[in-house]
Amino acid sequence: MQFSVKSNTLPKSRVPALVLGCYDDFKLSSMAKHIDAQSTGHLAKLLKRDDFTGKAGQTLTLHDLDGTTLDRCIILGLGKRDELDADRLITVASAIANATKSLPIKKLLISLDDVRASERDDTWLATKLVEHFNDANYQYLAMKGKQTKAAPITLTTVELLADADRSKALKKGIKLGAALSLGKAVAKDLSNAPGNVCTPTYLADQAKALAKQYDCLTTTVLDEKQMQKLGMGAFLSVSKGSDEPGKMIIIQYRGAAASVKPHVLVGKGITFDTGGISLKAGAGMWEMIYDMCGAATVFGTLKTIAEIGPKMNVVGVLAAAENMPSARASKPGDIVTTMSGQTVEILNTDAEGRLVLCDALTYVEKFNPATVVDIATLTGAVIMALGSQASAVFSNDDEVARNLIAAGEQTRDRAWQLPIWETYQTQINSAFADMQNIGGREAGSITAACFLARFAKKYRWAHMDIAGTSFKWAGTKKGATGRPVALLTEYLLQLEGQSA
Ligand code: BES
Ligand code: MN
Ligand code: ZN
Repeated sequence: MQFSVKSNTLPKSRVPALVLGCYDDFKLSSMAKHIDAQSTGHLAKLLKRDDFTGKAGQTLTLHDLDGTTLDRCIILGLGKRDELDADRLITVASAIANATKSLPIKKLLISLDDVRASERDDTWLATKLVEHFNDANYQYLAMKGKQTKAAPITLTTVELLADADRSKALKKGIKLGAALSLGKAVAKDLSNAPGNVCTPTYLADQAKALAKQYDCLTTTVLDEKQMQKLGMGAFLSVSKGSDEPGKMIIIQYRGAAASVKPHVLVGKGITFDTGGISLKAGAGMWEMIYDMCGAATVFGTLKTIAEIGPKMNVVGVLAAAENMPSARASKPGDIVTTMSGQTVEILNTDAEGRLVLCDALTYVEKFNPATVVDIATLTGAVIMALGSQASAVFSNDDEVARNLIAAGEQTRDRAWQLPIWETYQTQINSAFADMQNIGGREAGSITAACFLARFAKKYRWAHMDIAGTSFKWAGTKKGATGRPVALLTEYLLQLEGQSA
């Protein structure tokens, strides 16, 4: 979808559709006044009909308004004038994006007269408009048969009409929004791809193809043999149960001198999680195609960063494996040695995410990272704790946690912190090994994070549990959300130029 900024006037030619914002006080913006004059007062009169209350997100379409050049004048409710904050703005942006996506039009004009989000600038406003239009118009069609004609979305162009002094900031936002949308879309595509398509090898191939598209990116892939040499006994204990070979995929973004410490993102990439020998129940097991959303969002964030080109270094690592039960699979009670030298008693093979991540966390020490953030659909328990609104953040560094949460607030791709106090660590102490991979019924998300913390002692680190935020499983709305690409991108951009 192409976005552009145009002067705050209507073109001479006919307009297929114009969106006009309207608060619940029905006061006309300057563009609305202009159209009202053209229609000799018709617009104001229709607005006052009780059909339209001005409630946030409500739409009213007026066809062929007499005296105007408009085929459709779409009135968009903005709610109370002094309540158009960041959340409200996103609500109305999503509402208009959804209301217009099935219209048989190619071009949509949106008047931004009077539309400003409190506490946010026009760059943010444009970014969010682009992001939410792209979200609303996203379809996963790769798996439809050739005969199936998906209902086409014809809308390709959106023009934002605004006074000249807003143009620069809006254009900047459009650029950011476009880069973000590309990253979110690729994250969704990878996440939605089923387990028989999106294997570790497929992820590796996609990462190599990504690096071919951008000069600033390089991709390296470690195979199982190389991981064996590195002593990644925890990672391999997961992948060995599957016929699909595990891959550690490293995507490096170079935007600053090689001496500048990189920020590292590590993604859980379990391309399907059956639970292994600790097999999951059948109902709903398909959802575990989404157990690679962490890897997908790392991939998407690297793409967005490559599009934007900040002066910093970023490394993305995708820990990709399939968790299967087989004659070669790990069994409950097995004890493995991790790359760090610490041993782990695998009491439940379904707690596999921490096993692939712990070796990835040790591996990334070699990059001498400024910070490390891992992103994982790690626990069902986090869905109980925070639902689908916020991702969970755990950290050994208050500033890193604060930065992630602030990036979530700014983008509204929100996150909230949970503790990893030392006192929780006793839950994963093991009688036979250095630790066990489960911590009992209590505080499941925290004990999972505590496990990872034992492998992240050498740098500033945070873990994000995105099991509740990265995908939806309900009915026709099911699918990946692309979260937290927006949060991670904002987090990284805020750090540009800050690490020596
Ligand atoms: N991939 C799951 C967590 C998950 C659950 C993600 C629901 C998305 C939606 C993870 O590997 C897992 O199975 N975790 C177990 C941990 C338990 C065995 C300690 C869980 O949450 O039940
Ligand atoms: Mn599992
Ligand atoms: Zn899993």
